Amino acid sequence: MALKITVIGTGYLGATHAAAMAELGFEVLGLDVVPEKIETLSRGEVPMYEPGLEELLRKHVAGIEGSTGRLRFTTSWEEVGEFGDVHFVCVNTPQKHGEYACDMSYVESAFASLAPQLRRPALVVGKSTVPVGSAAHLADLLTRLAPAGADVELAWNPEFLREGFAVQDTLHPDRIVVGVAGERAEKLLREVYATPVGEGSPFVVADYPTAELVKTAANSFLATKISFINAMAEVCEAADGDVVKLAEAIGHDERIGKKFLRAGIGFGGGCLPKDIRAFMARAGELGADQALTFLREVDSINMRRRSHMIELARESVGGSFLGRRVAVLGATFKPDSDDVRDSPALNVAGQIHLQGGQVTVYDPKGMDNARRLFPTLAYAPSALEACRGAEVVLHLTEWSEFRELDPAQLGEVVAARRVLDGRNALDAAAWREAGWVFRAMGRPRA
Ligand code: UDX
Repeated sequence: MALKITVIGTGYLGATHAAAMAELGFEVLGLDVVPEKIETLSRGEVPMYEPGLEELLRKHVAGIEGSTGRLRFTTSWEEVGEFGDVHFVCVNTPQKHGEYACDMSYVESAFASLAPQLRRPALVVGKSTVPVGSAAHLADLLTRLAPAGADVELAWNPEFLREGFAVQDTLHPDRIVVGVAGERAEKLLREVYATPVGEGSPFVVADYPTAELVKTAANSFLATKISFINAMAEVCEAADGDVVKLAEAIGHDERIGKKFLRAGIGFGGGCLPKDIRAFMARAGELGADQALTFLREVDSINMRRRSHMIELARESVGGSFLGRRVAVLGATFKPDSDDVRDSPALNVAGQIHLQGGQVTVYDPKGMDNARRLFPTLAYAPSALEACRGAEVVLHLTEWSEFRELDPAQLGEVVAARRVLDGRNALDAAAWREAGWVFRAMGRPRA
């Protein structure tokens, strides 16, 4: 009989995972402790912007006309315990307030609520990004809190999805990594992932600590690659070189590769910044802090990019932001997402505002989230309106909409034709031709 799957935590990761499991043909029950989320998802609506996710949900959520009916949602732990053979725990692990370490309280409370309900054989699979060592501790917790004699096992199966590509990354992953302590867990997970593995996704079996580390190591490597190219951008600016050309040239070497070498205002979002910090904190606890001191530098190069953008903007308006009008294009941490968590764009906008600038922001999808986080900034309904009267335009998130802007038309509404490209994504020649003073990060001035 086909496995029955539950997904605990229906945020970004969980909602995508639940829909993907239904797409793979399983009966799926998603749980969240927030009733409003369950109501939204049960209507086939997605509480965030993620291309393709709503379509996938509507294809499977029970009660929607024409759906397969394979996917349902609940707030009941008891129902989850009765239903599932395999339980995926997808709750988040945010950075602790004022600390580097990550907050494990949501994961722990999910395990504590689930365990007593496991009255039939079950595999619990952690997907959240956790400090190495957590799985061993959670396996103990599970054994202690499950009903006496229950047949319960734990596996760790980190998730590598990118926002904006979540559905594609979940259905066609680059690799599937499972940390297991026994053969049954491996067998069940091979069954769950038979379709993507059959289509060529590698299936890597490891122990708990290695599986946990794969996730943080991968994100650390990606963050390091971005900070490396941003460090080169600093040198290029000092030497009048061109970091875009440099990245292209070194990327031809397959050992280096072309991806993740886009210099600009650096990385943000809910993963890379907090994951490298939590990794450093955990290494410190393990007495291995020296191994990761380079990540401190990766983090500080990254944060320096934001200050550098602010300096460039200040310089462009004559040395002070007081009373100067600044247009900010982009609020999300990257395009094709409405996520503004640790967004370099909003951080830059907020700091310029604090320094007396009159900042107007426009973003194609992130306006509601941005307004909630930075209510004191001004927001405009379009790029053109954000730029009206501006003395400098800052391009801070590389939405395709911004690449398609007509610099001549925009030039009509601004007070001064000055643009700073914080993502190295605009066509410098076209903007210059339309009479703009165009500056990009790590590139020659003219
Ligand atoms: C990341 C990892 O890619 C993913 O595997 C993991 O599961 C979660 O964290 P995500 O946070 O969605 O995914 O974003 P990603 O596409 O990795 O971009 C992260 C940040 O780096 C963005 O702010 C982006 O603008 C920035 N970035 C990316 C650069 O500045 N330069 C680049 O070359 C690439």
